[in-house]
Amino acid sequence: MIAVAIDGPSGAGKSTIARTAAARLGYLYIDTGALYRSIGLYALRKGADTRDAAQVGALLPEIHLSLRHENGVQQVYLGEENVSEEIRRPAVSMAASHVSAHPAVRQFLLELQRSIARENNVIMDGRDIGTVVLPDAQVKIFLTASARERARRRLLELQQKGEPVTFEEVLRDIEQRDYNDTHRAAAPLRQAEDAVLADTSDLDLEGSIALVERIIREKGQEGTK
Ligand code: DC
Repeated sequence: MIAVAIDGPSGAGKSTIARTAAARLGYLYIDTGALYRSIGLYALRKGADTRDAAQVGALLPEIHLSLRHENGVQQVYLGEENVSEEIRRPAVSMAASHVSAHPAVRQFLLELQRSIARENNVIMDGRDIGTVVLPDAQVKIFLTASARERARRRLLELQQKGEPVTFEEVLRDIEQRDYNDTHRAAAPLRQAEDAVLADTSDLDLEGSIALVERIIREKGQEGTK
């Protein structure tokens, strides 16, 4: 099996870039952020304080999460409910950032992520895929862009969905999540030593996809696991 790990901060375009590259190269695309978001959503619905490790940890045994691919598109289910749309709400983004700091949550999701990579050729995107989840991935990419550029892109996305937000709000949100993601004790966001850095600040979407595809083809030729 071949595994491609793509890590990087919020809004770097990881999911769009990874999804498109996976479709073109014939890999299964796995968006691991959707798993953390689903746990965040569940905790919000239960009225838990998402910053509180004990409250969130107590909910884990009752959470039934699964990823399914429908027409090649990843869908995430909480029990039998498809929550793929709802987990994109800004309130859920912040809840996901909070719950992802709890070691019990990370442990809960570790085996699920690894088992998918054992059975499929994957492009998996997240924050700790190259460092923790799949340290033996043949290809590791650290995908980033400046905070302002990421905020500009995220604002466009949210506006298209009719979310009433301003650039400043989106930028603040991104900076807050960057801080949370890089400063948490459990599996903080950082570039793996053997990851290739891909900065997309000055690239459009097609240019970013082409860059990632090139890295995967070059590195992927160096071996299979
Ligand atoms: O990529 P995203 O914005 O959908 O991720 C949502 C949150 O989950 C984000 O704050 C970081 C966290 N996350 C993580 O800690 N580890 C991952 N592998 C994926 C996401």
